[in-house]
Order: sequence, then C-alpha cells, then structure tokens
Amino acid sequence: MEQLDQTLAAIAAATTPDAIESLRVAALGKQGWVSALLKTLGAMSADERLVAGPRIHAAREAVSAALAARKASLEAAALDARLAAERVDLTLPAAPPLRGSIHPVSQVQDELVEIFADLGFAVATGPEIEDDWHNFTALNMPETHPARAMHDTFYFPDRDKAGRSMLLRTHTSPVQIRTMLAQGAPLRIIAPGRVYRSDSDATHTPMFHQIEGLVIDRAIHLGHLKWTLETFLKAFFERDDVVLRLRPSYFPFTEPSVEVDVGYSLIAGKRVVGGDGDAPGGGWMEVLGAGIINRAVIAAGGLDPDEWQGFAFGTGVDRLAMLKYAMDDLRAFFDGDVRWLDHYGFAALDVPTLSGGVGVRA
Ligand code: DAH
Repeated sequence: MEQLDQTLAAIAAATTPDAIESLRVAALGKQGWVSALLKTLGAMSADERLVAGPRIHAAREAVSAALAARKASLEAAALDARLAAERVDLTLPAAPPLRGSIHPVSQVQDELVEIFADLGFAVATGPEIEDDWHNFTALNMPETHPARAMHDTFYFPDRDKAGRSMLLRTHTSPVQIRTMLAQGAPLRIIAPGRVYRSDSDATHTPMFHQIEGLVIDRAIHLGHLKWTLETFLKAFFERDDVVLRLRPSYFPFTEPSVEVDVGYSLIAGKRVVGGDGDAPGGGWMEVLGAGIINRAVIAAGGLDPDEWQGFAFGTGVDRLAMLKYAMDDLRAFFDGDVRWLDHYGFAALDVPTLSGGVGVRA
C-alpha cells in the first residue's frame, strides 16, 4: 500500500500539531483515503473481503498509532524546550521582581505599623460600615452635635436591628470604642484603615486612609502623648531634627485637644520636614489631631474614667505619604494608573524595617 508508506513517512516528518492534524484528516477523516478504502468493503465478495478487510484495518491502526506516537514525541520535545527556556538557576542571588510594585499607601501603612509595633502597639481593626453610635455618639458627639455636620457622612437608607443609622465610617476613631469594649484596659493600639467622606478635590477623595492611635493606662498625661508622637514622627520622616508644635484645638472625643504641626524648611521650593518652623524660611504644617481622651469616651468604652486615662491621635495616611514622598495630587493615588505606580511604587521585597530604614526606596 503505497499510500500507507507515504502517510507514515509524512507523519514521521511532521513538526507541528497542525501538520499532524491535517495528515489525520487526509487519512482518517470522512474524505480521507483510509475511510474511502473502508467504504469499498461493502461492494466486495466475501472472499475478497476476507483478504482486503484485515489489510485496510491494519492500515488504519498503523496510521492511528503513528499519529499518536508522533504527537507524544512532539509534546515531549515542546516540554523539554520550555523547561530549558524557563530554567531558573537557584544558585543566583535573589533579584527583585521586575513587575508589580507596592502602592505608597500600603508602603506608608507598613512603615507606620513597623514604627508603632516597636513602641509596643498592636494593630486593631473595625468595620468600614459602621453605626452612628460607634462613629459619633460614643465619641461624645450626640445626635445634635455640630461636629457631625462637619463630617459629610455617607448614610445608608436603612437602620440596623438596634435602630441605629448605618453609615460609612468617617474616621478610624470608632475603633477606639470597639477595642475598649472588646479588650478592656490597659491598651496600646493603632488602627489603620479606609474612611469615607463626601468630599472631592486635589487633596480630598471620597475614600481615604487614616490611622488612629489609642493608649489607655493609669495616670496618662500629655507628656506621654508628646513623646510618643515625637518618636513616631522622627522615625517616620527619618530625621532627628523633627520639631513638633502642639496647638490647642477642639475634638469632641479629647479634652484637652491639640493639633500637631511639624516644622519644615523650604528647599528648592519644596517643603522639607525638619527644623524649627519659626526659623527664617521655615513654616509649620499640621500633621495630626490628638489629645487626652474625654472621660465620656472612656465611659462609652465600658471603662471607669476615674481609674483609666489615655491619649489618642489620628492622622491621614495618604497625607503622610504625600508629605514624605513629595506627591501633590491625592486623586492620582486611586486612579489605578500603572505609570504612576511605576514611578511612585515601592519594590515588593523592600519591606520597611526600623533597622533597614523604614522608607528605603528601591
Ligand atoms: N477623628 C479625627 C478626624 O477624623 C482625627 C482625630 C483627632 C483622631 C484627634 C483622634 C484624636 O484620635 O485624638 O478628623
């Protein structure tokens, strides 16, 4: 059978899956020559069929077997080629991955967690969908309190089972209440997370990130707060000359309340944190809100304010990132533009550590 020899030779010479498939169709397909031979069996006499039948079936078997064998050897060769091409030399030194980077918000959050972990703070969390008791009332902002109006709150249409209005939390401060209620005292926590306000321009986005700090213990006073913030800001900005200015302020949940500024100097038109803000060419910028926790808040947290005192602080993570890494448009943080991330992102293996420098850039 000349056709059989030709087909087997062609199969042996085929180098691609497509070539094998067209050879299969040409032989075994509906119009193929093996199928055509099979059809001739019907018109034969019984004797003729006895001779021709086994030969035709044997040809079909031979073609099928040759196709399968060639396919298997091509696949094995392809796998070998791929293994050779993707070979990884595990003895080479580790290199950072070439694609993908850590978003500045994640980076700064990791830096903050690292700094506060070193000071003995644990990380606490709370829900982003909050009720108005945790977000406002327990923080000494009863329903008629004017501070509620300042928060541009996103409310949900329905109340929860306890009849409380539901909202997207406007700050991370409700985590103070949740942690006091869940863990009691003493406490040392930070709570980083997303918060929401109906506000949008170059420095405000409807979703942004805050970090809250809370310390509850006995005989806590403003000195503890100032030392903690100074230590934190020096570690964060990686400078020893960070100067703090505490300005009297008002927050419903703290008494007394302070706004905390850091001194900066103008270098090539840019604000660089460090030094006395009152020095010529310098200035102050606000970085934190803080204070000694209001007695009413300690009580809402289920603790006795005569026994337990504390301090708290809150700040914007995105804002800290903008200050430290000189970025000027907050909206770009959440655009998901890969080019922006390529520029401002951090190498995935560059995990912040105090010993290595929390913000080292790849
Ligand atoms: N919750 C405040 C805000 O969103 C920030 C803040 C101020 C938090 C003072 C605090 C604090 O814990 O003590 O604007």
